[in-house]
Amino acid sequence: MKRREFLKRTINFFVAAAALFSSALFFRFVSPKFRLSSTEYFLLMPEDELPRRGVKKVEFPLQINGKKKRERVFISIVGSEILALSPVCTHLGCIVTWDNNASEFVCPCHAGRYNSAGVVLSGPPPKPLARLPLKIESGNVMIGWKV
Ligand code: FES
Repeated sequence: MKRREFLKRTINFFVAAAALFSSALFFRFVSPKFRLSSTEYFLLMPEDELPRRGVKKVEFPLQINGKKKRERVFISIVGSEILALSPVCTHLGCIVTWDNNASEFVCPCHAGRYNSAGVVLSGPPPKPLARLPLKIESGNVMIGWKV
């Protein structure tokens, strides 16, 4: 191999390695779209404040990457199950409300309706309300949130 060929290959190798390294950095730190998400648990409420029946809206604080914010979920008691349902409509993302008289979640945007388990009853929503993971730890209800 001639000296010129050797230098050319060496430079190409380092350019390719630098491109690969910077791509990895981009996907890992810069682009949130490609960031691997994980579930973290946040305090929702003390266990003794869980409703015995029906649906209760709960707001809770969380801190992700140093940013504090408040989120809300609906705690719905369905039979013996305790469900944490996202209030975000699965059609176009409006926030649903609980209609106590009709015992349904209602979306104000296009009249989507869900039952207390978050199952679509009518309207355009393509799928049920998202269920969030819950666990009870040391007398507290913890909610799982993708971070
Ligand atoms: S956004 Fe809820 S029904 Fe359209």
